[in-house]
Amino acid sequence: MSLSLTYEGVGKTFDPSGKNPVRALDNVSFRIEPGELFCLLGPSGCGKTTLLRCTAGLESITGGKIFYGDRDVTSIPPFRRNIGMVFQSFALYPHMSVYENVAYGLRVRKVPEAQVRVKVTEMMELVGLPDVLKRNPSPTALSGGQQQRVAVARALVYDPEILLLDEPLANLDAKLRRHMRAEIRRIQKITNITTIFVTHDQEEAMAIGDRLAVLRHGVVEQIGTSDQLYHNPESAFVANFIGKMNFFHGRVSATTNDSVTVETAVKGVAVTASGEKVRIHGDRALGREVLIGARPEQLSISRTKDPHGLPGTVSIIQHLGQFVRYEVQTEGGIAERALEVDVDHLIPDLNEGDPVFVRIDEKNAGVYDSEGER
Ligand SMILES: Nc1ncnc2c1ncn2[C@@H]1O[C@H](COP(=O)(O)OP(=O)(O)OP(=O)(O)O)[C@@H](O)[C@H]1O
Ligand SMILES: [Mg+2]
Repeated sequence: MSLSLTYEGVGKTFDPSGKNPVRALDNVSFRIEPGELFCLLGPSGCGKTTLLRCTAGLESITGGKIFYGDRDVTSIPPFRRNIGMVFQSFALYPHMSVYENVAYGLRVRKVPEAQVRVKVTEMMELVGLPDVLKRNPSPTALSGGQQQRVAVARALVYDPEILLLDEPLANLDAKLRRHMRAEIRRIQKITNITTIFVTHDQEEAMAIGDRLAVLRHGVVEQIGTSDQLYHNPESAFVANFIGKMNFFHGRVSATTNDSVTVETAVKGVAVTASGEKVRIHGDRALGREVLIGARPEQLSISRTKDPHGLPGTVSIIQHLGQFVRYEVQTEGGIAERALEVDVDHLIPDLNEGDPVFVRIDEKNAGVYDSEGER
């Protein structure tokens, strides 16, 4: 039976009464469903590892509560929580055989040898390495991907109630990473153990997570499925972190109950966003500075003068397989940086250095607060 995992107002401040207290987690509240593969995503230093370590009981929290199912584990020490953990560095014990590495959690629990053998064999089969045991090489003689699989087998061998994975694929090359992330999802779905997977790679998180939380400065910015975060980011930060987003400076020029119209500095280029596409908070006063956000596929390019297009110059053309990405420089600080425009075909006779007009797909563009980092 899988467990849910619940955070209630969890806070963690390192060195709280010292000279330089660090608030690593701030009022974190959410629930992970039983059997869910949940990704924690965010930039370096945002608190991902801290949240995992607090979940395992390796760090005590300075506020709030953590529950495994209905059980409040806040003050339960780590060895009394049934947790499997895989760390960023593979951290296999180099002086022990692969067999003993995987068996370790069972030895600690004083499981009889006959059962250990059955369980270790089963786990090595689950992670796709049944033959390694026959050869029984030293862990250092295994490839990165194999070591990673052994680490997963070691974390799963004693049937943990919760599995915590901290950037487990960070040391692998790009191709192996993509393969292993699918493997991790396969294994997680077979075992159905409630799992947190930490990564700062948004593609990885989107590819394998049932749901994702985006963390920023110890605060949960948004939680949802990949699809929800991609199509309905609630802030410019999330919009920029999940996928690519082009931002344009503008000012509120009209409002209704449901919509906001934003004009850019280029005459004739404005966006009216409504409903959940309006993500500005507080006041919608005329003249307020905000940002228009549009994904690369929500922009289009034309070579002929477009009265509703932003003038710019093509700086780089990249063929990326399914689409072509045009990088366009605009002038006068209209956009935050060079625009990225994805087109599903190569535009004939359009070259680097050519002048173009970029149009924003009004129906899909959003409007965001301009404050804060993006
Ligand atoms: N033991 C500690 N003592 C003091 N500060 C710490 C300690 N561990 C972490 N921190 C601080 O807490 C914040 C969150 O760190 P954490 O390691 O959780 O980030 P992270 O999201 O895992 O980053 P990364 O992607 O780089 O691994 C950082 O500012 C970090 O410097
Ligand atoms: Mg970390």
